[in-house]
Amino acid sequence: MNWNKQRSTQDIAKQEEIALMGKLPKHVAVIMDGNGRWAIEQGLPRIAGHKAGMDSVKDIVKACSQTGVKYLTLYAFSIENWKRPTAEVTGLMNLLEQYLRSEIDELHENNVKIHTIGKLSSLPKVVQKLLKESIERTSENSGLNLTLALSYSGRWDIVRAVQMIGLDIRRGKISPEDVTETVFASYLQTSNLPDADLMIRTSGEMRISNFLLWEVAYGEIYISNKYWPEFRRDDLYIALQNFMNRERRYGKISSQIVAENQEEKQATYLQKMMNVLKK
Ligand code: IPE
Ligand code: IPE
Ligand code: MG
Repeated sequence: MNWNKQRSTQDIAKQEEIALMGKLPKHVAVIMDGNGRWAIEQGLPRIAGHKAGMDSVKDIVKACSQTGVKYLTLYAFSIENWKRPTAEVTGLMNLLEQYLRSEIDELHENNVKIHTIGKLSSLPKVVQKLLKESIERTSENSGLNLTLALSYSGRWDIVRAVQMIGLDIRRGKISPEDVTETVFASYLQTSNLPDADLMIRTSGEMRISNFLLWEVAYGEIYISNKYWPEFRRDDLYIALQNFMNRERRYGKISSQIVAENQEEKQATYLQKMMNVLKK
């Protein structure tokens, strides 16, 4: 099923409207929260919330791909989530297995490249195998980079990076003075991802819960009051538009940013003119 051919007229209009607004976030990271509360409010067991959340995952992945977002990272299971009741953890692992089995063909067909971050060795063997196969199968794809954060925590990745840097120092590969921010980031599991530009959290909670701690340093945070199973593409569009209306200052002042944006616009315009003249 080709996602681009599947777009409704309304979708096309909305996605074009967003594209015209300016620069999309390169990397969108999502804390998919509120499955349990959604289920309880419906009088259902918590696992029904996780199941319903899968439909949101499918819709958001598709919408990001259609809109042209290059990187989407989904926080699906944290290291701390292992402390939940065994039945819920088992249910979540089964759902993950189901998702990989049922979706991989369509993801591959739509040029999605799968990545993972997290302590994968803690996951059930069958899930590890499916993940490995999905990563290998989609490795040549050039569309949306979909990263699944599984058994992941930001502090865990930072500590792991420090340990590996320590080893490389001991082996004489690098010296402590070589450790810049860029070098440090290259030891993180997210080394192939750009920093998170937009971090979305659903269910109204205003915390990061150990997600991409290093990578979100200057990311814009957007909180949706909807529970994850209710969060769909229209909510994503609102989050994207909200992001695109923000001024990212990176410690500078507003007039500097305005001037920089103007310079960038002029440079792009000049480049376009040069291209026209060359033809
Ligand atoms: C998010 O929903 C999914 C995972 C953490 C796996 P929750 O299960 O945290 O739902 P709430 O926050 O309890 O409602
Ligand atoms: C964060 O949600 C983890 C995931 C969405 C995978 P939690 O529900 O685990 O976070 P806390 O415990 O409310 O901070
Ligand atoms: Mg939660």
